[in-house]
Parts: sequence; structure tokens; C-alpha cells
Amino acid sequence: MGGLLRLDGYNARDLTASTNPRRILVAVAWPYANGSLHLGHMAGAYLPADIFARYHRLAGNDVLMVSGSDQHGTPVTVRADNEGRTAQDVVDQFHPEFLRYWSELGISFDLFTTTGTKNHEAVVHEMFLALLKKGYIYKGTTQQFFDTEAGRFLPDRYVEGTCPNCGYEKARGDQCDNCGRTLDPEQLLNPKSKLTGATPEMRDTEHFFFKLSAFGPQLLEWLKSREGWRKHVQNYSIGWVEEGLHDRAITRDLEWGISIPVEDLGPGKRIYVWFEAFIGYLSAAKEWSEQQGDPEAWRKWWEDAAAETYYFIGKDNIFFHTIFWPAVLMGYEGLNLPTNVPANQYVTFKGEKASKSEGIGDSVLSYLERYQPDMIRYGLAANLPETSDTDMTEAEMVRRNNDELVATWGNLVNRVLAMTAKNFDGRVPTPGALDDADQRIIDGATKVLAEVAAHIESAHLKAGLASAMSFAQEANAYLSEKEPWKTAKTDLERTGTTLFVALTAINALKVAFYPYLPFASANIHTYLGANGVLQDFGWDATPLEPGTALREAAPLFRKIDLEAEGAARASA
Ligand code: MF3
Ligand code: ZN
Repeated sequence: MGGLLRLDGYNARDLTASTNPRRILVAVAWPYANGSLHLGHMAGAYLPADIFARYHRLAGNDVLMVSGSDQHGTPVTVRADNEGRTAQDVVDQFHPEFLRYWSELGISFDLFTTTGTKNHEAVVHEMFLALLKKGYIYKGTTQQFFDTEAGRFLPDRYVEGTCPNCGYEKARGDQCDNCGRTLDPEQLLNPKSKLTGATPEMRDTEHFFFKLSAFGPQLLEWLKSREGWRKHVQNYSIGWVEEGLHDRAITRDLEWGISIPVEDLGPGKRIYVWFEAFIGYLSAAKEWSEQQGDPEAWRKWWEDAAAETYYFIGKDNIFFHTIFWPAVLMGYEGLNLPTNVPANQYVTFKGEKASKSEGIGDSVLSYLERYQPDMIRYGLAANLPETSDTDMTEAEMVRRNNDELVATWGNLVNRVLAMTAKNFDGRVPTPGALDDADQRIIDGATKVLAEVAAHIESAHLKAGLASAMSFAQEANAYLSEKEPWKTAKTDLERTGTTLFVALTAINALKVAFYPYLPFASANIHTYLGANGVLQDFGWDATPLEPGTALREAAPLFRKIDLEAEGAARASA
């Protein structure tokens, strides 16, 4: 079916042109709209996705970055029930709050929608029906926990018990927050209903199932042949498939969710949130295309085999993105499989997992009230949990701000601009002959962009940032050696060469840092006398033209005194 769709209304010339620029779909986990997000979420999915997207845009590629609020499922209804509100009311509180995070923290979604749109429902229905027709979705009877006191079937999250994997006593019927394992409620030891506390009993209920078991060999071959995937993601996924795949119920006894597009099951049933949320990646691309006035545009990211798709998620979502969703795509046919799923581990704050469902960790907005967005982005990016769980503290973020952003990168920019203003009338000086030290920095400017690009391309985002910062340190060391503040009194030509070289380093570093520190880099771009916006500049280390008039620079980063801030907050 994909083949036919592809020909219809699609311009074949676009297909051949599609390798240059590359088309990059940045698909980011859809957060449940059931509570505030905290820095752990930012480090786990949204910031890495944004760094990746910004790099690719600056490199001239065609990026589409989408996500949205995951508004269905029991995470939302549990909160609504507890607070005596409707589920929609909970969604209407948190979806706008998420939008504020993105705009204030500079997370540059092309579209951040919700799973509550008509468009999403239509796309889910279309996919459901296509899979039903092909026999990958079938109707069956299953057993499900029934709360006899409440007189109703219990959705997964309404059952709590002990995790069979790690022994954690507050594991939920869908997942253990302690070990990250995805669960089915009947796997819990000592299950209890969250509605009444009663021990639930198993009863028969009719549901639709997705034939996941049919995709084992195809998934295994695909997973084993992936190159450049994080080992923990690849091995976990392969291990899961090797254990044997079971068909999965994709409907639930619930009132809140996407309707089932066939009537067989009677009322009171909905499509399971985990079967429809990942379809959101496709529906969001379609919604974005509609908004662009080019309804077929999504095909360039989803149907052109040369397009690349990257899923930015936390480790608790790995199964759904490396197994379940790929199997759905394989069954549907004609849409691209993930190119890479660079899932992150957890960020913990002071040893505790920053989990939304347990309410730990300050919301993102509380940090944005007191810190610059780039400061937050830097602290998180330098500690991304790419290969293992990472513990973070606010003090560590502050230390990095003071030592690295203020003392290294900010200091380099501000003193070079100030010296140029003072000694060269605020214009880029004309360099004299270059010595070895000068040449090393000029070469380093090109090298650092190649290095950062290679790291980001392979989703080693933390390493990319470290490369950029280490070149900033090198440029500072170069200045200390050349002492332009001293030579300014004796040898103006030498001083001009030094400042030209330093400005070349800064001009490249503003690009290298841009994916991580977009606000600061945009300012530096202006200070360096540019007229256009940095987004149009390109991933480019070309030195500035001598004679270019620079603009007056404000300090880029603010030094933070944590004790003074703490005292001020305590007395406020
Ligand atoms: N809402 C889920 C969570 O917060 C993630 C959904 S990701 C998607 O764990 F695949 F459904 F989009
Ligand atoms: Zn567990």
C-alpha cells in the first residue's frame, strides 16, 4: 500500500534531490500531560533532540522535529481521578506548560501538538484498519484484573505490586520505575487495586491484539544489522526479541482515549495509549505539512528511503521504539524504520531518580526563574546520561557555569571583543604573518567544527560539547601566551594578528556551541558584526573579513553565587 501512496501526488524529482540536503526527522518522546516536567526529562530526551536538530539545521539539512503531549492513558486519568477533575482539564493545564518550557529553554520543535487532535485520531484509525486488513491486528479474549469492590476492569496503571525483576514494591502494572522494565499487570507479585486497595481477580475480556509475535525474525535481523547504535539500546532490544515476542493487547477497558474504528467490542473500550502515541510521530508530521500548506510534505521524511529518522527517548521507552513501533511499521509497510534510537539512561538528582510519577525533582520553570536557559542547557548537556545513569546536583551546574561558561567561553569572547574595540576601533584587524601558534589556532577552528559535527552525527552529544569547550580553553591559553594586552603598547601589528586569530576561533566556536548554547551564540553572532541570523550562517569556520565593524558586547553569562542565591530565595 505504501508504494501506491507514494506515487500518488508525489514528485519523483524530489526523491533524487533528497540526499542533498539530507532529510532528518527528529522524533522526540511524547510526554504524558499529567504533571510538570523536570530537568531529568530535559536531559533524557528534549535537550539532546534539540542539540541534534539545531546542528543539522545549521549544517544545511532539512530537519523536521516533532512531538506532542501524550494526553491519553491512565497516567492522565489517575491524576484526574485523584484530584476530582476531568482528564481534559489535566491536559489543558500541562500542555501549555510544556509549550512554555520549549520556548523558554529554546527547544526548537517544528511542531509540538497533542494526541487529542482530529488528525491524530484519523491517522491512528487508518493505521489500525490497514493492520486489521492485513491480519496483524485480530480480536481475542484475554484475562484482565477486575476490581470486585469497584465493579470494573483495571487498566495497567491501576494495579500496583512488587516488581518480579528487581523486587521494588511500588511497581505499576505497566512498568517498574525502579529498574525501567516494562511489565504486564499479571507479572506483579502481590497485586493490589489502586482504586480500592483490594486484591483484584482475573476475568475474561475481549480486546484487539497486535501480532507482535509475527515480527521476531525480521526484527532480530534488523536490530542486529544496526550500526552506530548505543550498545545498551541495541543489546537490550536484541535480548528482548530473543526471549520471544508475545502478541500484545492494543485496546483497554477505558473511557478516555482514541476510539476503536470498528464496533465489534461494544462500548467502554479504547485504543491503548501505547499503541497510538507512537503513531503520533507520523500524525504530527502530517499536521505540520498541513500547516505548511503542503499536505504531502511529510512523505519526504517518511517514505523517501534516503531520509533519516532519529528517536530521542529515555530508556524506559526503548522497547516501544526499537521493537513495538518498528514492528507496526514493518506490518504497515512503506514508511521508514528508525535510523537510530539514541535512548538515554536516567539523570538522578542527589541520588534519587527524578521521576515525574513519584513527584521528585523541581519543575523546569523553577530553574528558568533563576537561571539563564543556556546555563541550564550547558549543565545538562555536559552531564547527559548517554551511557549510564548520571547523578547531578544544582551545585555542579553552578560550578560549570562559573568555571566553564563564565571563566572560559564568556571570558574569551568578552576580552577579545573589548581589546579589539579599544585598540582597533572595534574593527576586525588585518593580520600580519602567522607564526606556528597562530596557525595552530586557525587550523583548530576548522578542526573543532569537524570534530563537533562527527560527535553530534553519532549522537555523542556530550563529547561534542567537550570538544568545543576544550578548543575554547586552547584559545584562552593562546591569548595568555601572546598577551595582546601587553603587546598593544609595543607592537600593534602583532596585537592585530593575535586578535584576528582569536576572533577566528570565536567565530568558529559560536557555531560549534550553537546547538548547545543557542542564545549566547546568536548574541555573539551579532557582536561579531554579522547582519543575518546565525541560523542561516552554516556550519562554517571561515575567518571574519578584516575591517568588519564589531558591535558592543554585553557579558554573555552571569556568575552565580549559590549561597547568596539560596539566602535570597529563603528570605523571599
Ligand atoms: N508518554 C510516554 C512517556 O512519558 C512516552 C510516549 S513516546 C511515544 O513515557 F512513542 F509514544 F510517542
Ligand atoms: Zn523493577
